[in-house]
Amino acid sequence: MNHDGMSDYKAIKMQQHPNVIDIFSKFFNEEKFSQIIEIGTGHGGFALFLTEISKKYSIKYYTFDINDEAKETFNVHQIPFQKCDVLNESSINKIAPLIQQEGKTLLLVDGGSKIKEFKAYSVFLKDGDIIMCHDYAPTLYYFKKNMDEKIWNWIEIRDYHVYPCLMRQGLCPYKRNIFLSVAWGCFIKSKQRKFLNRIRVSLIIPYLILEDFAKRYRCKNTLNIFKIKK
Ligand SMILES: C[S@@+](CC[C@H](N)C(=O)[O-])C[C@H]1O[C@@H](n2cnc3c(N)ncnc32)[C@H](O)[C@@H]1O
Repeated sequence: MNHDGMSDYKAIKMQQHPNVIDIFSKFFNEEKFSQIIEIGTGHGGFALFLTEISKKYSIKYYTFDINDEAKETFNVHQIPFQKCDVLNESSINKIAPLIQQEGKTLLLVDGGSKIKEFKAYSVFLKDGDIIMCHDYAPTLYYFKKNMDEKIWNWIEIRDYHVYPCLMRQGLCPYKRNIFLSVAWGCFIKSKQRKFLNRIRVSLIIPYLILEDFAKRYRCKNTLNIFKIKK
């Protein structure tokens, strides 16, 4: 694993696991999106990949960042970059209608405050839309056990942070293990899955969060309770 989290796509830097290109290529082959909205363009490597994907599959693509230091790269490669602070009310008013356009939206949350971005923008998702967040692990325990120093060393968002959003918006984990292998969380908004999702999100996620606390703080009593329950 690269210890600064940097890899590249066509010689342009991206803050992604190198396998992200293969995994997202397969994903775009399977799912038909009308628009991709990315929060956090960064250096532009991943954005270049998404620009190419959007041309290949005729998807509308928008990418936003507060920083335009790489604007030369964006111009050269025709990356549809827009400079803005995505947490500003005016930006939210601009981006929300893009999410709500007709057809399936993929919303990629990879800015500087993933929890705030997830909370601010997940409310605009339509049935069938997908939201993904980077530097994600379901719990800290999962991160320590399966990801840290193995596949990805950064965690900025976990289920505990967005649990009320998952419940309220009817967001259900989707292609979970595939995307966890590159530190992305993936959730689909789906009415059809709502019942299953309610059970899953309302029971399993709190269970995992409690288990996470128990394991992290090595609270013997709590762990014993879990053993009995299992
Ligand atoms: C982790 S990097 C993005 C990495 C990029 N997606 C990639 O794959 O290489 C996070 C980006 O979020 C941007 N950012 C931080 N706060 C922001 C804000 N309030 N609005 C928009 N972009 C923001 C930073 O400038 C930075 O480029």
